[in-house]
Amino acid sequence: MAILDVLVYPDPALRVMAEDVTRFDDKLKKLISDMWETMYLSKGIGLAAPQVGVPMRLVVIDWEGIRYALVNPRIVEEEGEERAEEGCLSFPGIFEEITRPNKIRVVYQDENGDARDEVIEGFLARVFCHEIDHLDAKLMIDKLSRLKRAFIKKKMERKAKSLVDSEVQER
Ligand code: NI
Repeated sequence: MAILDVLVYPDPALRVMAEDVTRFDDKLKKLISDMWETMYLSKGIGLAAPQVGVPMRLVVIDWEGIRYALVNPRIVEEEGEERAEEGCLSFPGIFEEITRPNKIRVVYQDENGDARDEVIEGFLARVFCHEIDHLDAKLMIDKLSRLKRAFIKKKMERKAKSLVDSEVQER
């Protein structure tokens, strides 16, 4: 297994539309296990392939010890609304209240290509929506007000710049 780099906003790869997974081979299984490893190390509960620079429709989630590897997931029904705080491994240190459905029906394939159809409720529905959004190049800040979004953007850009500066100084 390998630890992958988690891309941080404003990395342009986070805005690339992911493509369907068509091969259910060992390479896919290896990527899934690398994503688990990376997610656990980063203390996240979900990670989407575009966040590690792979533009594929693939998500891993660990919810209270239940692991989901979602391949080509699609939300086909949603119900209700709930506001709660959420974060994202691509926005370290940022937590914002975001409105999401509180019940969804999701169809996807597992790592072997077998079709699944599940109803997910509560906070886990939020996690599913958040991660599946990544596959469509959508980020949690897109759901905030323009002002808030601009503020976070500036903050993240400043952070990215200071990291580059400190790397330059080290050389
Ligand atoms: Ni995220």
